[in-house]
Amino acid sequence: MKPNTYLIGESAVMIRIRALIHRVAPTALPILLQGPTGSGKEIAAKEIHLVSQRSGAFVQFNASGLAESIAESELFGHVRGAFTGAYIAAPGLLATAHQGTVLIDEIADLSPAIQAKLLRALDSKEVRAVGATHTKHYDFRSIAAANKNLRQLVDIGTFREDLYHRLNGITIYMPPLREHREDIPVLVEHFQTRILAEDHICKTIRPSAISELQRYEWPGNIRQLYQTLRRTCILTEAAAIDAAHIREALATDDADITTRDTTPKEILLAALTEYNGNVNAVAKHFSVHISTIYRRMRDIGVSSRNTTRTTNKRNDNEPARSSRANFAYSGENSRET
Ligand SMILES: Nc1ncnc2c1ncn2[C@@H]1O[C@H](COP(=O)(O)OP(=O)(O)OP(=O)(O)O)[C@@H](O)[C@H]1O
Ligand SMILES: [Mg+2]
Repeated sequence: MKPNTYLIGESAVMIRIRALIHRVAPTALPILLQGPTGSGKEIAAKEIHLVSQRSGAFVQFNASGLAESIAESELFGHVRGAFTGAYIAAPGLLATAHQGTVLIDEIADLSPAIQAKLLRALDSKEVRAVGATHTKHYDFRSIAAANKNLRQLVDIGTFREDLYHRLNGITIYMPPLREHREDIPVLVEHFQTRILAEDHICKTIRPSAISELQRYEWPGNIRQLYQTLRRTCILTEAAAIDAAHIREALATDDADITTRDTTPKEILLAALTEYNGNVNAVAKHFSVHISTIYRRMRDIGVSSRNTTRTTNKRNDNEPARSSRANFAYSGENSRET
């Protein structure tokens, strides 16, 4: 039996998100889900499909780490003999989502060629399988999700602007858990049920444990809350979990996610500083042409000279961990788009 909701939370922000989903889900508007890792983008996409009452399937595609040819055949399908090993034809996920919903997750990781092909498919709802001579029409609702800020990727030239506008009928921003800590008690209750169903473990969670959970920053957001609670319930001998158990679990939790909020100028400045003003290295870091970085520097009034570091000198080609993390998790700016 289908649940009547997936998204748990009674905070003002979650009520607003649920109301927005109820307004837009029954329409054909493409939806872009933004927000940091573990904040509930995938579960929000499932909720949208549920509320939409579309008769077809909910289909998920994850672009991260896929070779271009695999991404293409997964999304668009292929005909028999399209490539070595294609012994039988296979429908793509867009076709499988006919009359349903397709979630294109980690969309920022799509290659430029697939971005172009996807734009055509979204514009016309006509899908050309790999090796096919004709297109076929499918009626699917698209939801795109990314924890990288897509607008910023458009600004630095790694994501197509036309595709961004096509996907972004509306952006729904899933906030970091630290911005709705008041949902932690209901989330904990929900996860207790899940832990009972999946792990056959039932523990009492004391109010002191809840207060401890509400004090934490949660860089890994709701996913981290669930994993922490699950681990604590499994590893604790006692029948009840209190603050000390939570403190112990969090002390060993090694999530290293940066959740600073940044503007495009700060991101570019941070990267230039990390690479000691080496524009070539920054271009490599963002996988864009060096001229794109120079253009952005000119547009926003940044010079590489005043980003040269005097201390803590590092190898220019060493990845700038902190600036990449900021780049990846600065979804905050997308809130108003
Ligand atoms: N509002 C919520 N109510 C109940 N469970 C939630 C909620 N938000 C997230 N979760 C749970 O937290 C976990 C992470 O959620 P989800 O996969 O939707 O995050 P995400 O934003 O897609 O993360 P990522 O960017 O890493 O893919 C899942 O187990 C999901 O069920
Ligand atoms: Mg996800």
